[in-house]
Amino acid sequence: MKHIHSYYSPNDLYNRIIEGLNEIGRELTGVTLDDLQPVDEFHIRGNIATKELIKLSAFTPGMHILDVGCGIGGSTRRLSHETGCCVTGIDLSDEYIDAAERLTQLLNMQERVKFLAASALALPFNDNTFDGAWSIQMNMNVENKLLWLQEVYRVLKPGGRAVLYEVCGHKNTPLHFPVPWAQNSSMSFLVPPEAFRDVIKAAGFDIEAWNDKTELAQKAFAHMTEPVGEPDLPELGVHLLVGNDILTKAYNLHRNLDEERVSLIETVAVKPDFE
Ligand SMILES: C[S@@+](CC[C@H](N)C(=O)[O-])C[C@H]1O[C@@H](n2cnc3c(N)ncnc32)[C@H](O)[C@@H]1O
Repeated sequence: MKHIHSYYSPNDLYNRIIEGLNEIGRELTGVTLDDLQPVDEFHIRGNIATKELIKLSAFTPGMHILDVGCGIGGSTRRLSHETGCCVTGIDLSDEYIDAAERLTQLLNMQERVKFLAASALALPFNDNTFDGAWSIQMNMNVENKLLWLQEVYRVLKPGGRAVLYEVCGHKNTPLHFPVPWAQNSSMSFLVPPEAFRDVIKAAGFDIEAWNDKTELAQKAFAHMTEPVGEPDLPELGVHLLVGNDILTKAYNLHRNLDEERVSLIETVAVKPDFE
């Protein structure tokens, strides 16, 4: 897991984001969720997908939700902002968690949005703690998917719903590397959708919703062409999170989607309420 941790550990991340905001002329006192979206929602279809997931989640004000693999917390904050929920985000990367906390303070959302550096495979919470959970494009780095889902199941209250938006494998292998979540195959653990569904059920969940989002992902990346020469990167973007080869990674993701090497699944899994 060490190489995955270091992949997601850029230096001085918070200050580089602040520099980016300054360069595009944003006053720090008036920064909004939308201003940060180019850098803090690190998943396919960004905040559009997050808003769809919020609708699907049906989480309501006052609930306490866990965001597993929250990155720098863009969707954690958006979830809290749009639903009124308290949300706790955990992530393997200390650098991401540091930036997540400081950005949350910048937006003055720290009362309802908290963060903790931790592994999805050993969640530092008691059984039956959360009303709901969500995890956005993290499973790709997790080899032991059953343990991750068992942990989510354990910390959810009975009847609690887990919203998952995850990249899976597809008919064809191998993947073209690097991709946004992995420099090479030693960091990427994709299983086809059917196997993903089986492991969710094996952890004890019932599946309430299952939506294949692959076509939408293909459309979102359809414009990607093979990068040539020095990349022309914006002041604020996910290259700050995973490096300046982001255009090659996005181009490879486009190829992997089009060649049916990866798929994208949105699902809601429910911990049964036996009472
Ligand atoms: C592609 S990013 C997605 C981040 C965030 N969910 C978002 O949508 O902006 C994948 C995240 O998963 C985290 N991650 C990978 N393996 C993890 C693990 N075992 N436990 C906790 N977080 C993990 C990484 O540190 C990274 O922040």
